[in-house]
Amino acid sequence: MITVSNLGLNFSGTNLFSNADLKFTPGNCYGIIGANGSGKSTFLRILSGELEPTSGEVIVAEKTRISVLKQDHYAYDSYTVLDAIIMGNPRLYEVMVQKDALYAQEDVSEEDGILLGELEYEFAELNGWEAESEASKLLSGLGMDISMLYLK
Ligand SMILES: Nc1ncnc2c1ncn2[C@@H]1O[C@H](COP(=O)(O)OP(=O)(O)OP(=O)(O)O)[C@@H](O)[C@H]1O
Ligand SMILES: [Mg+2]
Repeated sequence: MITVSNLGLNFSGTNLFSNADLKFTPGNCYGIIGANGSGKSTFLRILSGELEPTSGEVIVAEKTRISVLKQDHYAYDSYTVLDAIIMGNPRLYEVMVQKDALYAQEDVSEEDGILLGELEYEFAELNGWEAESEASKLLSGLGMDISMLYLK
């Protein structure tokens, strides 16, 4: 659950929003609607912790992690939907890329072997093995067919 309490944001004297109170509860899918420039992206930047609000706070339930994708229609064109979803967790994506690159090498030095071990450990810690099924759940939760996962 994410709780937004008395949230306000002011850019150089202009109030974008103020006294915003709301709760995002598990199992629901939310959309933010508003005119261009009304503050949707700014609100999401505050939710994700990228931007400090002028007032109020965002409380994220323990053991909950927020994944964020940029508002850029073309940024993920060359990636599969699955990769784009995983990029919402930057460290997990980085670990996967590093791991794949090492496995693709013809010779793996002792040093690389140790690094691979560490990366595999971190991958498991980050629930990397569940990433694909979590991504499927996310897609079907949004009403999309899971066959899209492997499309670019
Ligand atoms: N760092 C900043 N400093 C000052 N003003 C900003 C800053 N970031 C955004 N703004 C202003 O805040 C307003 C809200 O911007 P925001 O990008 O959140 O809108 P939006 O609802 O996501 O718009 P769009 O529908 O175009 O994506 C805009 O008027 C924008 O110019
Ligand atoms: Mg926006």
